[in-house]
Amino acid sequence: MDQSSSLSRIDWVARSCRLLAATAAEFRDTKPFAGLTIGTGIHLEPKTVALLMTLRSGGAGLVCTGNLNSTQPETVDYLRAQGIKVFATQTRNADEHGASLDAILAEKPDLLLDNGGDLFARAAERPYANLLGGTEETTSGRTRLLPMRDRLNMPILVINDSPIKQFAENKHAVGQSMFESYLRFTNRSTNGKRVTVFGYGACGKGTAACFRNAFSTVSVVDIDPVTTLEAHLDGFSTPLREAAIRSADILVTVTGYADIVTVADLPFIKDGAILMNGGHFPHEIDVEGFRNSPDVTGVDRYEAEQIETVRMRDGRAFHILGGGHMANLAGPRPLGNTVESMDLGFALQARCLERVARGGLGAESCVIPVPGDIDALVASAYLDLAR
Ligand SMILES: NC(=O)c1ccc[n+]([C@@H]2O[C@H](COP(=O)([O-])OP(=O)(O)OC[C@H]3O[C@@H](n4cnc5c(N)ncnc54)[C@H](O)[C@@H]3O)[C@@H](O)[C@H]2O)c1
Repeated sequence: MDQSSSLSRIDWVARSCRLLAATAAEFRDTKPFAGLTIGTGIHLEPKTVALLMTLRSGGAGLVCTGNLNSTQPETVDYLRAQGIKVFATQTRNADEHGASLDAILAEKPDLLLDNGGDLFARAAERPYANLLGGTEETTSGRTRLLPMRDRLNMPILVINDSPIKQFAENKHAVGQSMFESYLRFTNRSTNGKRVTVFGYGACGKGTAACFRNAFSTVSVVDIDPVTTLEAHLDGFSTPLREAAIRSADILVTVTGYADIVTVADLPFIKDGAILMNGGHFPHEIDVEGFRNSPDVTGVDRYEAEQIETVRMRDGRAFHILGGGHMANLAGPRPLGNTVESMDLGFALQARCLERVARGGLGAESCVIPVPGDIDALVASAYLDLAR
């Protein structure tokens, strides 16, 4: 026993990302990013480190920031210790975050790896010559960037639109991590609870399934009648939204859109209800509106738990987790989505950035899904490792 060592979660995650490790080994030989800098705006947490190190194995210079409210200081310290430039603070302040984004773009990276469209939206307003294109991770980013295609006019591959990302991360992993986050924040039970999930896209499907598997009675609300029918045929109840809010002990939003639950819903929220959001932006639950409503007498904050209890004039009270930010990246010891799901998603990221770096795509590929051959390559590699 003379070779024991003390390792961190960053090491645990790095060693668990087998697909990225195999990709990094290949990139060390092929160096697809030699001479290029990649600017990244994606959650700075341990799984991202595995992706960033893979890109660096391919010869990339890196300048990195995170997203609102998800920057983990240990991850920033680790990256800086590796000599990577990081402009990021853990903040919920949009202006502070904006300053970090500006610092990334001031470095004029050749490729951007974006999450939520923060970097590309700014680059659309202030273009620079050497920007080749890049990747966008999320649904919300795709929605934001689509109207900017004429101005962006460069290849941008949307990882979210890969079927692999849809089922591996959005469905299975977000479902599991929203469920895990509910337990982690609250230490409350799920069995026998009534849960309402707003949004029955991939994330909503996984979330609804995980709570059902944990013995909750789950209702689904979606504005799309076809999707609502699917939820109905999947065996979920699909009441009208007012009834769904009234019944909810636990209310989860995962739509990608703003103002899903607002002050107009205050009369319906059940006493003791727990509200949490899994959508990318903290605008699905109007937390600020609740805090300032004349129907609210006060807010109690459990600071360390990141839980706030909103007390109403009529005696009801309800709880909000993580200030309405993505719950699986908020609160005490946020873990995010499972390592395996991110290994897959980030292998797609690495391969898509490789494709853009090699100049294989033109401006017609602006805000398009992952090319099918990349999906097939990544799926085969994962299956080979799993067999
Ligand atoms: N927390 C995470 O780790 C994580 C991971 C991946 C994606 N996301 C985010 O989760 C959100 C949802 O992603 P997705 O892939 O499931 O999106 P999606 O587009 O597949 O599904 C969204 C669903 O919400 C429904 N919807 C829209 N407005 C609604 C409303 N007012 N009321 C009820 N339903 C409504 C839509 O009809 C759709 O069915 C996005 O913001 C995405 O960026 C979060």
